[in-house]
Amino acid sequence: MKGAGGCATNVFALSIRVGMKRERWRISVIGAGRLGTAMALALAARGYQIEAFVTRRKGHAERARRLLRERDPAANPRALSAAQLTELPACDLLLIATPDDEIKEVARSLASALPSGPSGGVALHTSGALSSEELRPLREAGWRVGSLHPLVSISDARSGAGRFAGAFFCLEGERSALKAGRRIAHDLGGFAFSIPPEKKALYHAAAVIASGHTAALFSLALELFQRCGLRHKEAQRALIPLLRSTVENLSAKLPARAMTGTFARGDVETVKRHLAVLSAQPEALEIYRLLGLRALRLAAPSAREEIESLLRLKGKVRRK
Ligand SMILES: NC(=O)c1ccc[n+]([C@@H]2O[C@H](COP(=O)([O-])OP(=O)(O)OC[C@H]3O[C@@H](n4cnc5c(N)ncnc54)[C@H](OP(=O)(O)O)[C@@H]3O)[C@@H](O)[C@H]2O)c1
Repeated sequence: MKGAGGCATNVFALSIRVGMKRERWRISVIGAGRLGTAMALALAARGYQIEAFVTRRKGHAERARRLLRERDPAANPRALSAAQLTELPACDLLLIATPDDEIKEVARSLASALPSGPSGGVALHTSGALSSEELRPLREAGWRVGSLHPLVSISDARSGAGRFAGAFFCLEGERSALKAGRRIAHDLGGFAFSIPPEKKALYHAAAVIASGHTAALFSLALELFQRCGLRHKEAQRALIPLLRSTVENLSAKLPARAMTGTFARGDVETVKRHLAVLSAQPEALEIYRLLGLRALRLAAPSAREEIESLLRLKGKVRRK
């Protein structure tokens, strides 16, 4: 694999020549934010060599570099700003973990900064919603392109580095990019699966519902607890075991059987009380109604029709 800076080492070809002996891959991380830095820390701990961090503001690349060197003082990656792409050292893999809206432009800039792309070099972006088509300029410059989306929530680099073991990685792209992605997933202790490129937005909407929307729902529950007089920290401490037990139930059972509470039992009078206290809060009421209708479809309690008409009665939710 020829490196980004023109180095002529071909890791894949070399692997075949030497009977799949594992080589130390050199990686440049473009977008060293939460995910990019967490992946760099985790990959470095598994023997990958991090050659460079690139961020919009150089200081953030330097912060990623410091984090890596705290764990591995022998590591010596370059810290570069987005305006310094021509200074990227040779690497075998470009890991592009910028915000989704930046990926296409970053691919263009990388392709023009590294005009003689390496044969066999791999470029992967980490967006869940976008396909490897975003990396077209890099493909045209000779890179094998793909997307690798870790199906896990990384809110900071340090804790995030420990979150990949057991996680699933959604892959899509060219054959050798898929192969590289599978190897990364495996080396991080995770599992790989692939989907067609045209399904990525739908796949990602599902991931957002499961993760980001759960956080949004949790923030609403916290707010309502605070209206009951609990302080934020108390509310968080009280609600976390509830959420954890729900996740544990969901790990063991189908959602219809894991679900407990008012809608599973069909407690009509309780639903009326909930609707009454939420009526002064339109956002909370709308969320309660919509998810209540979904819960009813799952649980199908004997009072289903009665509860359904209560939920639809005052709200804007229309029967299909
Ligand atoms: N976080 C997660 O849980 C998670 C999980 C799976 C997938 N992803 C995907 O990973 C990608 C990054 O997400 P994130 O949450 O890690 O975002 P983030 O924390 O906001 O990090 C984005 C990084 O990209 C850098 N950047 C922005 N524009 C750039 C450019 N033009 N050139 C070079 N670097 C640039 C930013 O630099 P500055 O720091 O200087 O602004 C920042 O370091 C997204 O595609 C996201 O969908 C994230």
